[in-house]
Amino acid sequence: DEDVTILAIESSCDETAAAVVRNGREVLSNIISSQIALHTIYGGVVPEIASRKHVEKMNGCIRAALSEAGKTLDDIDAVAVTYGPGLVGALLVGVSEAKAISFATGKPLIGVHHIEGHISANFIENKDLEPPFVCLVVSGGHSHLVVVKDYGEYEIIGQTRDDAAGEAFDKVARAIGLGYPGGPKIDKAAKEGNPDAFTFPQAQIPDAEYDFSFSGLKSSVLNYINQAKMQGQELDQNDVAASFQKAVVEVLVGHAIKACKEYGYDKLAIAGGVASNSGLRELMEKECAANKIKFYRPSPVLCTDNAAMIGAAAYYEYKKGVRFGLDMNAVPNLPL
Ligand code: KG4
Ligand code: ZN
Repeated sequence: DEDVTILAIESSCDETAAAVVRNGREVLSNIISSQIALHTIYGGVVPEIASRKHVEKMNGCIRAALSEAGKTLDDIDAVAVTYGPGLVGALLVGVSEAKAISFATGKPLIGVHHIEGHISANFIENKDLEPPFVCLVVSGGHSHLVVVKDYGEYEIIGQTRDDAAGEAFDKVARAIGLGYPGGPKIDKAAKEGNPDAFTFPQAQIPDAEYDFSFSGLKSSVLNYINQAKMQGQELDQNDVAASFQKAVVEVLVGHAIKACKEYGYDKLAIAGGVASNSGLRELMEKECAANKIKFYRPSPVLCTDNAAMIGAAAYYEYKKGVRFGLDMNAVPNLPL
């Protein structure tokens, strides 16, 4: 088989990213320009600022990705880009860039679903991982339990009814004064706290045992904080963070392990920004070992948004013959 080298672009939220990936699993370069510091003062991502920053940074990221890989546009077999879901103005920057490159070079254009990218991050460091397997996808916008039946073939068996897991981390972090981005800050604070200091609720949804709900948990944490304030009690940030994280992590791990057992899969992967959470990684590893399930997880840098994962997903689309036209558009609510 001939080598396939893909230039991949990602701009769906607040990271401008470009990567060169060979044969879906070999990352030749992975450039990420994070805007987190710019959005921190606003306590969250400001869509217009994100778009404007993508416009400024995109060409530099692509140039750096090609040069670090020792490639030029001539060496590339295809250009791939996230075309949804995400912030529409942010997505349009990457989509327009990829279309321009495809138009100028005549190379094929491949649109990638952002979540499919997150799932495919698992292929990069695990050369032995092949479908079928179960994947828990937990990010700022999504909490999905998915059966990956084949490359590019998914069955969603559970999803959140309200907040995404990452969203809950971000909201609770803001409420306890840890600021944005909440996930990594709660992760760090939780290491210093007592996870059994409080018992926060873990929602189970009747008749939809694989679905998630995090809004009740979030409200319960917010109520506790307000009560403590009213009674003039000192708030132990670390204990709240540890107890909240434990509640989220136990639900995520419980659902994922149950899905493997009931659907009969012995491979479980995690993906998305929340998959970099150290509490989740530890408990999942322990439960997988106890249940004889092989556990796969990307390195933290491949869990949060990046373009290498888009290049990994695009390879399997490329092999199937998927090609997009120059009329490709951003689809902010693209379904999996
Ligand atoms: O996948 P991602 O980079 O972007 C989306 O597609 O949403 O995920 C970002 C989310 C944010 O909500 C962030 O707070 C969360 O992932 N996150 C974490 C950690 N690192 C990032 N949540 C918990 N623990 C972490 N270490
Ligand atoms: Zn993401």
